[in-house]
Amino acid sequence: MYNVVIDSEKCIGCGLCKNDCVAYDIDIENKKAVYKGNNCIFCGHCEAICPQNAIKLEGFEDTVEDFDKQVILDPKEYMDAIKTRRTIRQFKQDKEVPQEIVDMILEAGRLAPTGSNAQRTRYIVLRDKLDACEKVAVKYFRNLLGLGMIFAPKLKDLRNVIDPKFFFKGAKLAIVIIGKDQVSASLAAQNMATMAEANGLGVLFSGYFSGVSNLSPKERRMLKMKLSEKVATTLVIGYPKVKYKRTAHRKPLKVTNM
Ligand SMILES: Cc1cc2nc3c(=O)[nH]c(=O)nc-3n(C[C@H](O)[C@H](O)[C@H](O)COP(=O)(O)O)c2cc1C
Repeated sequence: MYNVVIDSEKCIGCGLCKNDCVAYDIDIENKKAVYKGNNCIFCGHCEAICPQNAIKLEGFEDTVEDFDKQVILDPKEYMDAIKTRRTIRQFKQDKEVPQEIVDMILEAGRLAPTGSNAQRTRYIVLRDKLDACEKVAVKYFRNLLGLGMIFAPKLKDLRNVIDPKFFFKGAKLAIVIIGKDQVSASLAAQNMATMAEANGLGVLFSGYFSGVSNLSPKERRMLKMKLSEKVATTLVIGYPKVKYKRTAHRKPLKVTNM
């Protein structure tokens, strides 16, 4: 389906592509790069690094973009963004997230790294079915707690206070992230959350909704999930109704230097 094509006229045999190839799938022969095509994961590094623009990956729908300099975030600004971010649990109920911003958030997920470049993460954008999915989740969750399941030990006495907006907190948008590889899906989720926040939105990673979506057959049917699929995480996204005045505590670092 995909292929790597090297233009030997343009190639100067510098070896940058060979040295950056995770699959050891490029050799230099007679001062020219040669693609072997044995183990390639189509990560695109050879195309991205080539100073002569001599390498093309074929079969992808998107196009690569040229740039002169990698964009690096200002460390102080980035640390301040990390410190002052909070999980949002109260959203404005009258303000929809514009589609252009939803598209940007999804694009931030698509561009995240994935193990073996497998890109198996997929996304369910919940808007129209949001309320219906929340209703099913609330009912399922109340039943679980009623049965004394250990699913949410800290909430077991709260069965009766679990309100109809328990999962989505009044937000009008949630993105369910599905992927077998938890690390890859979580990295996509973090990219997406950061992009949402860069657009003035607040984000809640809903472990509870993800849990219910993995357990409840009815919820799974509503989400049109395949039997083999697993929700890695769910981002609840909306305009925050609250502003925070100070940072939150964290436990000390646990670091082993060796
Ligand atoms: C994987 C994950 C699942 C979470 N699930 C929920 C949830 O279901 N409901 C909720 O209110 N907060 C949830 N949170 C938010 C955490 O409670 C929150 O990150 C933590 O208390 C620290 O607060 P902060 O994000 O404002 O720094 C979740 C966070 C993560 C990372």
